[in-house]
Amino acid sequence: MKTELIKDILTSAPDGRTVTVCGWVRTIRDSKNLVFIQVNDGSCFASIQLTFDRTNPSNPSNAESIESAVADISTGASIKATGKLVESPASGQAVEVNVETLVVLGKCPGDYPIQKKAASMEFLRENAHLRARTNTFGAVFRMRSQMAFALHTFFQERGFYYINTPEITCSDCEGAGEMFQITTLSMEKLAKIAVEKGAKGMNPEDAAKLVDYSKDFFGKQASLTVSGQLEAETLATALGRVYTFGPTFRAENSNTTRHLAEFWMCEPEMAFFDLEDDMDIQEEFIKYLLNWALTKCAADMEFFNKRIQPGVIDTLRHVVETPFKRVSYTEAVAELEKHADEFEFKPYWGCDLATEHERYLTEKIYKCPVMVYNYPKEIKAFYMKLNDDGKTVKAVDVLVPGLGEIIGGSEREESYDKLLARINELGLKPEDYSWYLDLRKFGTVPHSGFGLGFERLLLYVTGMQNIRDVIPYPRAPKLADF
Ligand code: 4AD
Ligand code: MG
Repeated sequence: MKTELIKDILTSAPDGRTVTVCGWVRTIRDSKNLVFIQVNDGSCFASIQLTFDRTNPSNPSNAESIESAVADISTGASIKATGKLVESPASGQAVEVNVETLVVLGKCPGDYPIQKKAASMEFLRENAHLRARTNTFGAVFRMRSQMAFALHTFFQERGFYYINTPEITCSDCEGAGEMFQITTLSMEKLAKIAVEKGAKGMNPEDAAKLVDYSKDFFGKQASLTVSGQLEAETLATALGRVYTFGPTFRAENSNTTRHLAEFWMCEPEMAFFDLEDDMDIQEEFIKYLLNWALTKCAADMEFFNKRIQPGVIDTLRHVVETPFKRVSYTEAVAELEKHADEFEFKPYWGCDLATEHERYLTEKIYKCPVMVYNYPKEIKAFYMKLNDDGKTVKAVDVLVPGLGEIIGGSEREESYDKLLARINELGLKPEDYSWYLDLRKFGTVPHSGFGLGFERLLLYVTGMQNIRDVIPYPRAPKLADF
């Protein structure tokens, strides 16, 4: 079946040629002599109008079959139509199709949940298998694809290689213990063994020994990855500049509008980059992505600007044109302390920045994206490079208005001794990180990288309010439908 995309038909000349349109009916209007059908195929925001004029003397002889198809059409039905592409007399559309054949591929009964009337986001989330057929979700998922294309283009244009890091891993990159364990051991069987052995009176350490990971699928405890960074470092210290882009998993019990249990992360890693180089490319990257959205996704952006978040286009334009503010953690906390009354959690030097602090910095104090760098080592991961003060590490978070953190990155500790000391200090097992330490043993180099939360980026670009609405099938605590 050779069909044209509606996005191509809509931008071609109304030269009377015959076109074939396939798609889903958004609306049908049947007045006395005229039938108007709006059809959308998802290829672009706009629908195309099919027109059937009952009084047109040059109508084909199959008018009867067209009439019977019209009778079967309601919102949501799938159709295939052919007809002549002509100039449209209606305003707001350049072309329309004068129908010559019309076939209903699939009827759509009245209990179709996606009716023209605006439905709530909650309702659409429950109907996630159909929500991509709405204006909002069509636009969001097209933007998702565009942003993925943009990020590949950005890195490919700059000498980066796309690499793939494993989803199943035995190391906890962020050391936060928020990993989903993967096992083929049977929970029921383990529970039975425990009962047989009289586990009730057993001390917890002996009870834990009832689990024999050598019998598990991988012969040891394994989990879904929280980040591809550690493995990306092994490739960056060979190929120079690399990036990975894929799903990551976090078992944090965060029921918020900004957290998912399964989210996509883009993680570039660059040999011979220090923290400043890292910050420079982060800023360039975000500006590139926003500019892509503004210039290559204009129709979808106009919709977001009109219906989802008024002003989002101006906001993005402003961000593209303005330098990001860069402040050290120490300066940022000093600023926040001046406004201590505004916060639920009072900020102090050494505290982890909460979302309320992050948003205050970027929305109220600096009013632009902010890069906070040099965090206390205690609140950051083990792999970050220690500053000469012995207290802070070369970390950076990028904070944006409306959201807070969108990027987390750092310069990595390249000294074998310092890294080993940090691993020991944190009670991690050096043998678990032997391969990671090898990078520092064999030809170590300064290197840096970062992780961009892909859904956070999409929230920012589209102005959508809930992270569960920028991924087709969100996973969160007690939520794994579809
Ligand atoms: O700051 P994070 O935890 O950094 C890392 O994982 C590093 N290993 C990245 C690196 O240097 N290669 O996560 C990076 C970003 C955050 O800034 C945030 O945008 C996003 O990932 N993120 C989440 N997005 C959605 N749901 C969650 N639960 C997220 N946790 C982090
Ligand atoms: Mg972070």
